[in-house]
Amino acid sequence: NQAKIKELIDKRAEARLGGGEKRINAQHNKGKMTARERIELLMDEGSFEEFDMFVTHRTKSFGLDKQKYLSDGVVTGRGTVDGRIVFVFAQDFTVFGGSLSETYAQKICKVMDQAMKVGAPVIGLNDSGGARIQEGVRSLAGYAEIFQRNIMASGVIPQISGIFGPCAGGAVYSPALTDFIIMSEENSYMFVTGPKVVQTVTGEVISTDDLGGANMHATKSGVAHFMSQDDEEGILLTRKILSYLPSNNLEDPPILESHDPIERLGDTLNEIIPEDVNKPYSMHDVIHEVVDNNEFLEVHRNYAQNIIVGFARFNGRPVGMVANNPSHLAGVLDIEASRKAARFVRFCDCFNIPLVTMVDVPGFLPGSNQEYGGIIVHGAKLLFAYGEATVPKITITLRKSYGGAHDVMSCKQLRGDINYAWPTAEIAVMGAKGAVEVLEGRNISKLESDEEKVKYVQEKEEEYTKKFANPYEAAKFGYIDDIIEPRNTRFRVIRALEALANKKDHNPPKKHSNIPL
Ligand code: COA
Repeated sequence: NQAKIKELIDKRAEARLGGGEKRINAQHNKGKMTARERIELLMDEGSFEEFDMFVTHRTKSFGLDKQKYLSDGVVTGRGTVDGRIVFVFAQDFTVFGGSLSETYAQKICKVMDQAMKVGAPVIGLNDSGGARIQEGVRSLAGYAEIFQRNIMASGVIPQISGIFGPCAGGAVYSPALTDFIIMSEENSYMFVTGPKVVQTVTGEVISTDDLGGANMHATKSGVAHFMSQDDEEGILLTRKILSYLPSNNLEDPPILESHDPIERLGDTLNEIIPEDVNKPYSMHDVIHEVVDNNEFLEVHRNYAQNIIVGFARFNGRPVGMVANNPSHLAGVLDIEASRKAARFVRFCDCFNIPLVTMVDVPGFLPGSNQEYGGIIVHGAKLLFAYGEATVPKITITLRKSYGGAHDVMSCKQLRGDINYAWPTAEIAVMGAKGAVEVLEGRNISKLESDEEKVKYVQEKEEEYTKKFANPYEAAKFGYIDDIIEPRNTRFRVIRALEALANKKDHNPPKKHSNIPL
């Protein structure tokens, strides 16, 4: 028996060495952690239990029958994060460059299947040279098995992907199907085809980083929701994201005990809106002021900055915040902002996370670029997402809420539960300047001197502002439930969330909706 136990211990030690000391050192020299080190950091101490440590590949060609490593290049299993069960797979670059074989794919599928059965999140830590070339089409089949599971798990259990090394070709599509992608700035890249193929096919010369680095994906493509400096920051960020999420779509997100007083007033908010309606202010300051402990976990921080999305808590209850950002492109909605916010709204709705929307939107960005790019369809995504969402929806209009964008931003008629406005709100078809141009153009052109024109325009703009640039017109019709003092916002949101905690709303039975794509 002693010999058998020793054999087990030795085999485990062998598996833990992955592709061997030399390759582990090479991994460290690149500033990367190994697959097992990443898992250790992700899970609560001592909670990780590995599956399928003794799995090896079944390929005989290219001399691979003489080259076998226990675990076969991916470490899988389960553990806990803040005491809650989480499943994980971590690609081990020290074994065949973390490339995916048939058995490797089966290991990933096994953890995904178990996670679905018990209703727990799956975290994928990616660092791989892609399909294992020697395995050919079996490797491609393996990817597709994983994709199918990603799709079935979507909206049932949270799925988060960390990219800590190469992720190219077909391999990109598993992360793309998950809820959030975190990329480490130092060592990760993602692309469908690499720089060499790009150059051969199109003649374009471009570096790996410019084509698919973390910075590019976090700012230009929006593929990455978060960028971390290195592996460690990325993994700790994963734990943080999980803290806002329920384990599955049938649970509510975890409520933490909050020590930030409910009735804390945000006095600065009474002064934050500038006298001049065209002047920006910091929407980030508004968010930080109202949420618990000024803590806001921003998603897509550097992408489509005209809209802000992210997680926060109110009296310990997690919410998804969506806010127009008057400091960037005056907070207009455009293609990228609409897609970004729509995806976030739908994520929150999948996982029972209430939405708090802060509105200061002058409208949609005009222009041929936007129209050619299909802003009609992309804007419709956000509209659709809000209208479809059945989670508690609280909207606060701080300043502008004009035109079609007013409707899109979680208005009352899209089943907004509680719609507040600050006294500075202007809820109208458009701003005074635009309205006077449209309505008074003919009259203005009849006037002779410039002086007369300026005076007339001024008078008309004042008239329009008085009549429409306020929250009272909307409140008169019940489109706004109450006009609140800005400094009371935190208190009013907390009370609204408490009142809506047991909200039940349903969409009609259907196979699935046909959201404009
Ligand atoms: N299949 C099988 N083995 C692979 C592999 C793959 N797709 N990708 C990498 N490896 C192996 C390498 O042969 C090497 O083995 P060794 O340590 O025994 O020499 C090891 O993994 C490390 O790869 P290496 O190329 O030395 O690492 P690198 O950091 O210099 O480069 C990549 C990493 C991913 C850029 C490079 O390995 C690569 O281009 N791989 C192929 C990517 C690809 O085209 N995949 C298929 C399409 S999905």
